[in-house]
Amino acid sequence: MADTALATPPETKMEPGRAMSAAAAATCNQIVDPAVYANQPVLDAAFIRLRAEDPLAWCEPEGFRPFWAVTKHADIMEVSRQNKLFTNGEREMLSYEEVEKGVYAQFGQPHLLKTLVQLDDPMHFKLRHLTQEWFMPQNVKQREAGVRAIAKQFVDRMEDLGGECDFQNDIALHYPLRVIMQILGVPESDEPMMLKLTQEIFGAQDEDLSRNKGALEDRDVGEGLASIQQTLAEFFMYFTAITADRRANPRDDVSTVIANGTVDGEPIGQLEAMSYYIIVAAAGHDTTSASTGGGVLAMLQDPAQLKKMMDDPKGMARTAVDEAIRWTTPVKHFMRTAQADYEMRGKSVKAGESLLLCYPSGNRDEEIFEDPFKFRVDRSPNKIISFGYGGHMCLGMHLARLEMQIIYEELFSRVKSIELNGDPTFIKANFVGGPKSIPVRYKF
Ligand code: HEM
Repeated sequence: MADTALATPPETKMEPGRAMSAAAAATCNQIVDPAVYANQPVLDAAFIRLRAEDPLAWCEPEGFRPFWAVTKHADIMEVSRQNKLFTNGEREMLSYEEVEKGVYAQFGQPHLLKTLVQLDDPMHFKLRHLTQEWFMPQNVKQREAGVRAIAKQFVDRMEDLGGECDFQNDIALHYPLRVIMQILGVPESDEPMMLKLTQEIFGAQDEDLSRNKGALEDRDVGEGLASIQQTLAEFFMYFTAITADRRANPRDDVSTVIANGTVDGEPIGQLEAMSYYIIVAAAGHDTTSASTGGGVLAMLQDPAQLKKMMDDPKGMARTAVDEAIRWTTPVKHFMRTAQADYEMRGKSVKAGESLLLCYPSGNRDEEIFEDPFKFRVDRSPNKIISFGYGGHMCLGMHLARLEMQIIYEELFSRVKSIELNGDPTFIKANFVGGPKSIPVRYKF
């Protein structure tokens, strides 16, 4: 039951006289706007301005509680690596203030779930530890043959489609889904449902992908929250059955690890288990689909880069993958909350204030990347910040890289020519997003 003493989100303490800089005043509304994330040039311009004029900007955007926008690569790392000082528990991602209030009113706490990204140590460490082994490089490497077989099936599917397809919807969306569902032990017949539920969560701000379709500005906040709860209820129902099954019939899959997981000798709670399945299922494919498709799109838009890739797919795939993940930055932000006052960039972040880690900005930081607005399949070194950093650094990053490397090798060693066949479209999302459609024409 909600504790009424906790029934509103914490007030953000404001320093007397703190105001947004001119750069921040003009751009803070942009960097929270889902539609801006579907328009890369506008997004780039906003972050260029912040990095140059106010790299640690105090933002008070309409509809959101205030935060510091952290736009420099070095600062994102500095905050991310100090997990005791900058925690996840209070506010791990941007949410409309009205939605935050709705969640507090109903649950007396900030979240509907308890996933790894919403937890801090020691619980975060203990829960992460349960599945970490599965996602270590040596174990991921062992899945290479299986992943390659799936990649080949999808390149076959592309060939069967006869010379034209929507690369995002026909290929990129389904390939990482199949890989992560096999790891979870979810049968292929349930993949369409898993895809729909995931898109309803990550695409909640997009009129085509949200559960109750329609433009965000036309939707009621209460209704938006209710539809997210319905989506979560469907996930819960599905994974409750999986838990029962894996307790009775353990198998060699991640669901068995979660269903039978213990912390300090006690079985993990129902909410923790459900949240775990959901984060692995959801984070495990939409992100990878976005960067797989977005990388192909970048090559199609730059024939010289496409040629380099097609001339030497095996040699180029490894660097092309990281460049695709830099270029697309499918996870647009995470947030942290300062537990003590902290000085950065000559400014004073106060305990209780939150910070928005702007990964797309870090990945275009002129101080780190040479020619950052150029997609180069052979970029090396490539200090991408797309997977975050520190204790929460992406659990699935080795898997994501392997999957993408394999599909790029398989696709570009078989396809004879490939080009755009219309304008691509992009998902409106300020949290996880990428291409919505990539029409292509090709010959095998
Ligand atoms: C966390 C990005 C693929 C599972 C994260 C974080 C980012 C991220 C930015 C938060 C890091 C931080 O706070 O410092 C990405 C990108 C991917 C990808 C860009 C693909 C290109 C995957 C895959 C899985 C996965 C394939 C499958 C297991 C997770 C989990 C967490 C996480 C479970 C939470 C880790 C924690 O809080 O300890 N990811 N991810 N991700 N990712 Fe990924």
